[in-house]
Amino acid sequence: MKGVVLAGGTGSRLYPLTKVTNKHLLPVGSKPMIYYPIERLLQAGIKEILIVTGTEHMGSVVSLLGSGKDFNCRFSYKVQDEAGGIAQALALAENFAGGDDITVILGDNIFQDELTPYLKEYAAQGGGAKLLLKEVPDPGRYGVAELKAGLITGIEEKPLQPRSNNAVTGIYIYDKKVFEYIRTLKPSGRGELEITDVNNKYIADKRCTYSIFQGFWTDAGTLESLRYAASLVEQHNL
Ligand code: G1P
Repeated sequence: MKGVVLAGGTGSRLYPLTKVTNKHLLPVGSKPMIYYPIERLLQAGIKEILIVTGTEHMGSVVSLLGSGKDFNCRFSYKVQDEAGGIAQALALAENFAGGDDITVILGDNIFQDELTPYLKEYAAQGGGAKLLLKEVPDPGRYGVAELKAGLITGIEEKPLQPRSNNAVTGIYIYDKKVFEYIRTLKPSGRGELEITDVNNKYIADKRCTYSIFQGFWTDAGTLESLRYAASLVEQHNL
């Protein structure tokens, strides 16, 4: 199992905080945002980690994280030339993955649960995908999962009328098939290759499971959620 942290995008919803730096380098509590997903991977014993980010701030990201020596892991880096969506960024991880399974985390997702139990469940399911969900009060901001009889039957990206309160978080476990699926994607209405389309392909092939996070989860991509994330990490001493 290898790890991939996706830390691209323009951070436009946090402008002007993101005018001269990458969103994932902004402080959340006492640490840069990107430390939190990295710490979750390390805690689960994942020591080979690829960081994908844009051209503008790659230098700062590398200055912050380095080779991984200080984290007792190995970082690799890939540049996403333009912000073309999460699935486009993930496509850059194919060589790095080298046929292995990957745990992908969006760099602005901050959460409390350890990943180890979910990785064990994934190991037992024999490939495919596993998604982590979280019940939220405002599902329309996210990918929303429809669940029936313990199965995930479909995901809608930012629906106007969400069919459940289960947000698909930015934590995904995939086998190597993910790269084949990405190659078949077409850009969405917002001009991006959507991770939700990838997940729906796994669902259509009946190779997708889910678990629901027990502890807190939030993204930190808006001013409001950034403040919320800071209060949560302080409250829970992360
Ligand atoms: C992305 C995904 C969405 C997911 C969310 C989690 O949304 O497209 O399905 O629920 O991350 O943070 P974005 O933050 O790109 O709007």
